[in-house]
Amino acid sequence: MDNQEQKHQRRVRYSGTHPKTYKEKYKELQPEKYSDTVEKVMQKGSTPAGMHRSICVDEILEFLQIQPGQVGLDATLGYGGHTLEMLKCLDLKGHIYAIDVDPVELPRTQARLESLGYGPEILTIRQMNFSSINQVVAESGPLNFILADLGVSSMQIDNPERGFSFKTEGPLDLRLNPRKGISAAERLKTIKQDELEAILIENSDEPNARAISRAIVSAIKKGTEISTTTQLQQIIKNTLKTIPGSNDPEEIKKACQRCFQALRIDVNNEFGVLSAFFEKLPTALASGGRVAILSFHSGEDRLVKKSFQRLFRDGVYCEIADEPIRASAEERISNGRARSAKLRWAVKR
Ligand SMILES: C[S@@+](CC[C@H](N)C(=O)[O-])C[C@H]1O[C@@H](n2cnc3c(N)ncnc32)[C@H](O)[C@@H]1O
Repeated sequence: MDNQEQKHQRRVRYSGTHPKTYKEKYKELQPEKYSDTVEKVMQKGSTPAGMHRSICVDEILEFLQIQPGQVGLDATLGYGGHTLEMLKCLDLKGHIYAIDVDPVELPRTQARLESLGYGPEILTIRQMNFSSINQVVAESGPLNFILADLGVSSMQIDNPERGFSFKTEGPLDLRLNPRKGISAAERLKTIKQDELEAILIENSDEPNARAISRAIVSAIKKGTEISTTTQLQQIIKNTLKTIPGSNDPEEIKKACQRCFQALRIDVNNEFGVLSAFFEKLPTALASGGRVAILSFHSGEDRLVKKSFQRLFRDGVYCEIADEPIRASAEERISNGRARSAKLRWAVKR
């Protein structure tokens, strides 16, 4: 009885019938304990807090043609959904190396996969950036298959402490590895207006880049603090409200999404590490090896396409995707994030 009372006192309380904030979703955050709640959330087409729904799984597996005994790499482990499906294809013969730059989520994923029976004899997990893929290959030897599912996971977006989303108040961080580099808030403190404008244009084609960058830089100069996600959102909102044609709530939301994406790409040097990864891919792949890249915005897709096309012309790849593969209509309906996904692939000669 004492125990029950103690448990009762510790339960997270929330107003209304459904939990709204990240912390209130304590059931979704413990899928092993509350599988029925998690199932209900997924049936509604949502992603439970603390989880990530893998995209284009069938399309990826169909292309990679993984055979038992092969050795492969998941360059973006995340929640481990793709890794798990690829492991199943190995039928306990062969090996998968899986890496992720995020030191926060990686141990949770490793523990989850281990609890499913995938230990070091079949799966090696490392916290590292895929720009250093050569370090994996030094250990694994040439790889038969490689997958990179770019961007951020739902767990990272949902956790207010990571500062990836303006839906909830949190520190304006946006780093995939919060233990390295500087946060977006720090970056903004010293940024010049023209530099910020270029970031917003180059990283997410923001049409109001000049007005937004001017507002941010002048606010910081006047001593206004922009250290949280909602403080940045507010400045973007206030700026767009004064621009005819850009001031309706949907346009403002899209502009906030673009600005957060642009800053995330900048603080994580996402285009730089992606280029380094693409340069190292050909030596990482075995002859006949297959690589699949899932991207989520035009800047990323352009990089993938250009790299594959150039190396195809140079004779490094013998086959590449002519057009990107898109998620099925069914998947796009059931998982909003799948709508922007583009899957490109290449086969090493
Ligand atoms: C979309 S999620 C991957 C989800 C995963 N495929 C799954 O099924 O659960 C993208 C992941 O890539 C990681 N990531 C992004 N850039 C990276 C990089 N340069 N090196 C290693 N990991 C990276 C992020 O930390 C995030 O966990």
